[in-house]
Amino acid sequence: MELVIVDSYRELSLRAAAHVAALLRRKPNAVLGLATGSTPVGLYQELVRLHRQEGLDFSRVTTFNLDEYWGLPDDHPASYHRFMQENLFGLVNLRPENTHIPSGTAENVEAECERYEEAIRRAGGIDLQILGIGQNGHIGFNEPGTPFTSRTRVVDLTEDTRRANARFFPSLEEVPRRAVTMGIATIMEAREILLLASGKEKAAALAAAVEGEVTPEVPASVLQTHPRVTVLADRAAAAGTRRLAV
Ligand code: GLP
Repeated sequence: MELVIVDSYRELSLRAAAHVAALLRRKPNAVLGLATGSTPVGLYQELVRLHRQEGLDFSRVTTFNLDEYWGLPDDHPASYHRFMQENLFGLVNLRPENTHIPSGTAENVEAECERYEEAIRRAGGIDLQILGIGQNGHIGFNEPGTPFTSRTRVVDLTEDTRRANARFFPSLEEVPRRAVTMGIATIMEAREILLLASGKEKAAALAAAVEGEVTPEVPASVLQTHPRVTVLADRAAAAGTRRLAV
């Protein structure tokens, strides 16, 4: 695992975007795994800038998002479909048919999850998966205790996670109690992983993930066993780690 510590959220965003852009220049038909939440917003802003000002091309890129709230229609203001549309998909030249997000409203959820896994396989697998990290160490919506063998499925959210994400909803009551998420095994099949962490709220989770025991109790700790992971953290998020040097 390579741990890169930068001074600010802005630097984290620029570095992450440079990492993605380098891949797209090397492999214009790359398959990206994408994350939502506050952390990747700066990365997406910089990718949009690179597209508009430097011609970064997404026309042959395929994307798969990690997760979606269960029960939210695609156009709900807090859905991850809407988030991706507003932060990236609607602002670059990605083809709509090449962007994938699990449906939060599928009638047959098991079939939807299997279809999602199959679509990733058919695309040739994920070249680079972007990840954030939850305050409890979750990745995607894989909460503590999730088996490392898990695949795309419906999960229950912990109350901690619902509270942490309540800022995107009018009230805590309206935060869904379930989500559809890629599993840990699905994430681990990505050829490369870039985990982003910003802010002191992530310090304990990040330290446990990069330096603690590899255990399902800290889902992100599984990344220690992946051959190609870069962890990009700002100083606040890296404050709990012992390797406070670039
Ligand atoms: C949600 C998402 C995760 C994300 C996490 C942290 O739970 N499902 O993919 O990493 O939130 O979000 P934030 O970046 O807003 O702290």
